[in-house]
Parts: sequence; structure tokens; C-alpha cells
Amino acid sequence: MKIIVINGSPRTNGITESILRSVESELISRGIDVEFYNLTDLDIGHCLGCCSCYMTGHCIIKDDADRLSEKIKHADGLVLGSPTYASNVSGLMKDFIDRGHFVIEQLLKDKYCITVATGENYGFKNTLKILDDLVIFSGGTLSGHIALKAPFNSKEVLPEKTRNLIRKASCRVEAKKKNHFQTLYHNLIFSIGIKPFVKRKGK
Ligand SMILES: Cc1cc2nc3c(=O)[nH]c(=O)nc-3n(C[C@H](O)[C@H](O)[C@H](O)COP(=O)(O)O)c2cc1C
Repeated sequence: MKIIVINGSPRTNGITESILRSVESELISRGIDVEFYNLTDLDIGHCLGCCSCYMTGHCIIKDDADRLSEKIKHADGLVLGSPTYASNVSGLMKDFIDRGHFVIEQLLKDKYCITVATGENYGFKNTLKILDDLVIFSGGTLSGHIALKAPFNSKEVLPEKTRNLIRKASCRVEAKKKNHFQTLYHNLIFSIGIKPFVKRKGK
């Protein structure tokens, strides 16, 4: 299996990267190939709202967004991590979500995914839900999700509870465990909401 790991924190070596590196090690220890990307190192511009991706399947902006979603398309899974900024994902992560063709292409279909959100105070559960919804609405299986509240710039070792969640999620990825409730929920949302909407927009 190959899994793509994406860090949406502009602060590399922060707590979000620390959790994602721990997920990476856990996956590697299970014989899974991992490619790790820090969004801050990539060139990803804002979505312009031109909707050409709905009509043609391609974005008119040529930068790293298409290259990264192409890598996701050919992988078996995705790990997405973001710090909480104003009770939401970081701007870096939001730009990639807007540009990544996740929902319209059902990019995560048959892929095993883990989400990670960090925060120091309030709103990190909202961040986690945004990432979880993205996975489900894009057709993916949510193998596990991890939220951690920690002081800004914390260099403490990850709590045992977090390490346990990482182990369990990685185990479900390795076992390619599906979740029937998630599949049912996705099928409903896809057939009633997403498919007719995209068909109306596109050619
Ligand atoms: C601009 C900005 C906005 C933030 N907003 C929130 C917030 O709404 N809720 C929260 O719990 N933490 C907030 N934080 C704190 C970060 O989410 C938190 O410290 C995070 O774990 C940092 O991750 P990192 O070390 O990977 O950068 C904010 C931090 C910044 C820089």
C-alpha cells in the first residue's frame, strides 16, 4: 500500500507534524509506503472560483495542487493534518481542499484515510469534523481521527491516548477495514446531493 501524508501547518516541526510523523512511523512499521508533504513547501494558489474544474475536470491554474491530487489519486490512502486557525483548518489546508478536486472527482473513493486536528483552546473538534466530512463526501473510508489539545509550541511527547489512536487507525488502514455506516451515508449524500449537482454544473 502507499499512503500520502499531508501537513497543513505552516510551522514544520510543530505538534501537527509531530503527530503526522508518528502516524508515518506506525504505517511504515506495518510495511506501508509513505510519502510526506508539508503544504508550506509547495506552490498552491487560491481557487479563483471559475468553475472550469466542474466543466472540464481540470484546473486552469498550473501549480502543485494538481500534482498533489494526482498523487492522491494513485495512492491507497491519505492522512490529512491541520492546526486549528479560528475554529477552522489552516489557510494552507483550505487552499488545498478548494483546489484538490476532492468532492467533484470523488478523489478518495476506495482509499483509507486518517484525519488529524490540533488546537490549543477551542474549535479543534470543528477542524476535525471539517476534515472528516471531506473524507466521507469524497468517497473515502475514515479509518481513524485524532484531535489533540496542546499548548502552542508544546514540545511534550504525545500522550498515550493519542499514540493508541494512531496505532488503532494505522491498524485499520493496514487491514483495509471498511465502515458500512460510512458507506451508506456516503451513498446517500452522493446520489441525492453531489452527483446531480455536479452534472448540472458540468458538460
Ligand atoms: C492564527 C492562529 C489562529 C489560531 N486559532 C486557534 C483556534 O481558533 N482554536 C485553537 O484551539 N487554537 C488556535 N490556534 C492555536 C493552534 O491551532 C495550535 O497551537 C496548533 O496546535 C498549532 O499547531 P502546529 O504546532 O502544528 O503549528 C491558532 C493559532 C494561530 C497561529
